Amino acid sequence: MDSSLVILGSQWGDEGKGKIVDLLSPDYDYVVRYQGGSNAGHTVIVGSKKYALHLIPSGILHEGKKNLITNGVVIALEELVREMNKVKDVAKNFEGKLFISDRAHIVFPHHKILDGLAEKSKGKDKVGTTLKGIGPAYMSKYGRTGIRVADLMDPKYFRNRLESSMAEAKEIAEKIYGVSFNLNINKIYFQTLKLFEKIENLVCDTALMLDKGLKEGKKVLFEGAQGTMLDIDMGTYPYVTSSNSSALGLCNGTGVSPRLIGKAKIYGVSKAYVTRVGSGPFPTELKDSSGQKLRDEGHEYGTTTGRPRRCGWLDLVALRFASRINGMDGIILTKLDVLDHFEEIKVAVAYEYNGKEIKEFPASLKILEGCKPIYKTLKGWNVSTKGLKEKDKLPDEAWEFINLIEEETGTPVVMLSTGPERSEYIWIK
Ligand code: GDP
Ligand code: IMO
Ligand code: MG
Repeated sequence: MDSSLVILGSQWGDEGKGKIVDLLSPDYDYVVRYQGGSNAGHTVIVGSKKYALHLIPSGILHEGKKNLITNGVVIALEELVREMNKVKDVAKNFEGKLFISDRAHIVFPHHKILDGLAEKSKGKDKVGTTLKGIGPAYMSKYGRTGIRVADLMDPKYFRNRLESSMAEAKEIAEKIYGVSFNLNINKIYFQTLKLFEKIENLVCDTALMLDKGLKEGKKVLFEGAQGTMLDIDMGTYPYVTSSNSSALGLCNGTGVSPRLIGKAKIYGVSKAYVTRVGSGPFPTELKDSSGQKLRDEGHEYGTTTGRPRRCGWLDLVALRFASRINGMDGIILTKLDVLDHFEEIKVAVAYEYNGKEIKEFPASLKILEGCKPIYKTLKGWNVSTKGLKEKDKLPDEAWEFINLIEEETGTPVVMLSTGPERSEYIWIK
């Protein structure tokens, strides 16, 4: 691969981005997380070891890579430091390996409290967030009351900002949710400064670093979090996350010009079926034994929250939409092995709404809820593809499945992933 590359989710998250970024990292100089926060849970399996990365880019497990957390990410410092300790055995020393943007915003305990209160007040209409404080942290950012990493360099300024941020959160809690909470501001203030000491030597202007690197011809691997259908602008709003988790988030999340970012290739990661955690529309969801079989075979339980994931057949209306929004050069199809033992495999190629066929993913939740998938039924391959390394050994039925995806999305499937391990993949283009 000679250019820079974007790896992002083309569904509702958990497509296997972490595994893919980890295995591709050796070919790149920089690995960059540019949006979201510790709501992400990217699993990387290396031999008998399993790493669940939430904030640190998945390139951290390789030697000699520069891993960047750029301005678009919201960082809970205690979680970042905890995660650094978890990868210490491989990363050893973080200097020269992990770089943290001075413009990234910080997630504070009051953001997590507000996340919980907002969810509770929504009752059955709750978003089903990860409760990591992501929405409230981005609200602070866009409301211009947020606190950035750079602000911690000036403890007096930080103290003032923290006082008003916490006062605001308290007022929201009391006046909107009728709940008062007690957080010890002194404790949070000193704890934050203590945590900051642990990462201070890693803080820099990551936008400048990336701009320079890209102009010098360095190869950058951008690691998306969440997925296109959870994008704040283009996803199934309001059942989305609070950042641009499609390719639309690349420029604002890195602070790099679209002229430079535009030169990167974009691959969307898609499972061979669909999963979703949290609430919101999911046209191909299966609530029957096939859904349970997908959950069992795919071990579909959340990396961040442990919640069972909702499962359903592959939705090519959504994938076609994701391919367009992201300008995808290719699809990386993961978890093909999970479909190994199905007699029949269904794939949604369109929706039916009020007797009409729809091929474009609708904005309206009401329309989405009334959409019934129009399926093409394919014969299952019924042999193991687990860990398959030779393209020629791929069963004909699996090729039919891949061809249908390419025809319907107009996007080539470039790689298959056939197991959670780093080595279980095959380039087919
Ligand atoms: P991410 O958030 O997109 O990085 O994905 P997650 O790590 O949250 O979820 C993907 C899950 O599937 C993890 O448990 C991975 O170890 C696992 N996984 C990734 N690729 C494959 C694959 O091709 N086959 C199987 N069986 N599991 C996979
Ligand atoms: P990765 O990077 C799957 C979902 C939550 C919820 C909605 C909003 O591992 O693919 P939030 O906490 O962001 O305010 O929750 O978004 N969500 C994810 N679902 N994978 C993720 O990340 C997710 N991050 C958030 O379940 O529905
Ligand atoms: Mg995940």
